[in-house]
Amino acid sequence: MKPSSSRWWHEAVVYTIWWRSFADGNGDGVGDAAGIIAHLDDLAWLGVDAIWLTPIHPSPNADWGYDVADYLAIAPEFGDEATFERLIDEAHRRGIRVLLDLVINHTSVEHPWFRAAAAGRDPYRSWYFWREEPNNWTSIFGGPAWQWCEVAQRYYLHLFLPEQPDLNWDEPAVRREFAQIARHWLERGVDGFRFDALTVLKKAPGLPSAQESPPWDRVLAQPGLEALFADFVAQSGLTRDHLTLGEANGLTAERAAAWIGEPGGMLSALLHFEHWHLEAPRADGTPTLDTTRFSDTTLRWYRTARTAGTVAAIYLENHDTARVLTRFSHPSRAPRDARAYAAALLRQPGIVVLYQGQELGLPNATLRDWAQITDRFDRARAEALRAEGWSDAQILAELSRTGRSAVRTPLPWDADATYGGFSAVAPWTPLDAQHLPLAWRQQQADPGSVLNVYRRLIAAKHRRRAQNPQASPSRAMN
Ligand code: NOJ
Ligand code: CA
Repeated sequence: MKPSSSRWWHEAVVYTIWWRSFADGNGDGVGDAAGIIAHLDDLAWLGVDAIWLTPIHPSPNADWGYDVADYLAIAPEFGDEATFERLIDEAHRRGIRVLLDLVINHTSVEHPWFRAAAAGRDPYRSWYFWREEPNNWTSIFGGPAWQWCEVAQRYYLHLFLPEQPDLNWDEPAVRREFAQIARHWLERGVDGFRFDALTVLKKAPGLPSAQESPPWDRVLAQPGLEALFADFVAQSGLTRDHLTLGEANGLTAERAAAWIGEPGGMLSALLHFEHWHLEAPRADGTPTLDTTRFSDTTLRWYRTARTAGTVAAIYLENHDTARVLTRFSHPSRAPRDARAYAAALLRQPGIVVLYQGQELGLPNATLRDWAQITDRFDRARAEALRAEGWSDAQILAELSRTGRSAVRTPLPWDADATYGGFSAVAPWTPLDAQHLPLAWRQQQADPGSVLNVYRRLIAAKHRRRAQNPQASPSRAMN
């Protein structure tokens, strides 16, 4: 089946904003809504159809917003209600849609639901997973997946940080709450969502208390997951006109149709992990992009999506993984390779998701001291490497190459401005001086720059959409 109708998002280019490091509008060194508003003309010039904002809600920031304390409010560092509304209006005025990131698998330990659950108040206790005896499951961030709670006098499950207790999606009330949260933001003009950690929502029945490791075969893409999410969608006010992206670790193309197929699919597209591992060894031992794997995976997803009457989504970078240039390209080949990666993505039909700075051809930032390890996942790895006897210099070099902190540094807007035009004061974490020559303003003025290549490829994609809304995928990178 061909894509049934032309939905606005079928050929959308989605630009991910990790907002702390995008642009600072109020001069406190932290990116914010006002900073985004100030750069909407740039994003419109680039040609993006939608922005995905990483979580904007109040959070103790154990995992930079992915530990939410109040889903209905806006983090004060991000901006106030009026600025948020202005952001939506100004984006819409330029034809840019806005997606929020909904963290549905877990809350913060500071969320009132978790506090009430710990205190044993009904109905909240059963909204999380509690055990008197933990099993030996480990969390994604390392260490045990069970944390002792003094108040509850028992352990709770956290697949991510201890500050991110997992919610029990088998509880209808949890699904109902999130449906109301989604409705709330849709009513405020949001155009869709990216759903965080979607594929671990459903835990195997009766979480085993026996020793068992690893937990992934009991929590990843479990049977019954689709039904739980469908129940949420049915109550949420979401329609096929909204753009919804699901973070889909563990989902195969074969299983995708039930999620995205027309008519009645639950999501626009899945951000699958099947091409997460794209490293192929080169003769000299350094990795290069495995183009065969990339194109095979991409084609498989496109075919599945097409058979299901819709389109697939593709991405190479996000806030959780190293920049493509650092992963696959020798520095001497970087500018040329940046153009090739741009073409590999944007010449494909379907949804393309970019991560801020990718359009500039940024490599990972170089982390120069311990304080620049701003991410807890990286910090845990650093501690583990230290315990293995690595020196600080070795650890910083390793995390610069592979870590999440190294892709979350402030964007360079203007090489001639203080702090690269990111902020009037010292940014919350340093902007990498090596990123300055790649700043947006300077690249904008250079027709041959990576930024201008992105712009032209996006424009060409949009022209193809206009001429032939049902284009077929070409073989990526070949
Ligand atoms: C995926 C997010 O992209 C990542 O940044 C976060 O740490 C985990 N989910 C947990 O929410
Ligand atoms: Ca700010």
